[in-house]
Amino acid sequence: MERRGFLKLSGTTAAAIVVAPSLITETLRAEDGSLYETYDKVMLKDADGKPLKSANLVKEENYVFNFPHVATPCILVQLDGPADKTATLKADDGTEYIFKGGSGKDGSIVAYSAICPHQLTHPQPDTTFFQYVPTGTKTLAYDKAVGGVFVCSSHLSAFTPKDGGRRVTGPATEALTQIVLEIDENDVIWAVGALGPNKFHEYLKAFKGEFKKYYGNKRKAKKLVKTEAKVTTLKNFSKDIQQF
Ligand code: FES
Repeated sequence: MERRGFLKLSGTTAAAIVVAPSLITETLRAEDGSLYETYDKVMLKDADGKPLKSANLVKEENYVFNFPHVATPCILVQLDGPADKTATLKADDGTEYIFKGGSGKDGSIVAYSAICPHQLTHPQPDTTFFQYVPTGTKTLAYDKAVGGVFVCSSHLSAFTPKDGGRRVTGPATEALTQIVLEIDENDVIWAVGALGPNKFHEYLKAFKGEFKKYYGNKRKAKKLVKTEAKVTTLKNFSKDIQQF
């Protein structure tokens, strides 16, 4: 079983936060959950309904799943190399928090909420303007690197997944919310929590019509995911993918 190390959050405006190591049978705990939220452990499952294993991931593919709510989309990626072991980020309110790396044998597997912190652009079944852009693929959003970044093509914000989803350009002001993963002794991937500022509440208030179309109604969309979440590639999830 992979066990995460301690997650320590600190800052001038926030008391230090220590998150205990997580076990598959327990929940993560924080002394102060202001920037770390735990949820029911959710097993990720592939399109055939089988547990998603890290060994079966295709490098730099966008994998979409919904967590922690039925309608809040996330993207999981196995990056081209390990994420940083630690990175300090700051929320708009000044609270600092610390990203403690990716999951998997080499720490290259990460997941982030796919809700852009600027104006909540997110992947939809009809069209998508938000995605991870693989290395070697150019994006208008960020010319300091060729790919290897999350890009919101609505207004060209970019975020670097190796250091906690940090915002590196564009009108967004905060990082992406990290979805904390665990990989168990059978190599199965689980989603267990969310680190950093998040837009879940704002998002769940904003898209009533969309929730009705895709999930039945807002009440169903708001429900927390229990037990398992289906994972699909972005190209199967969305009919039209736009990337600038
Ligand atoms: S909504 Fe993402 S950059 Fe504006």
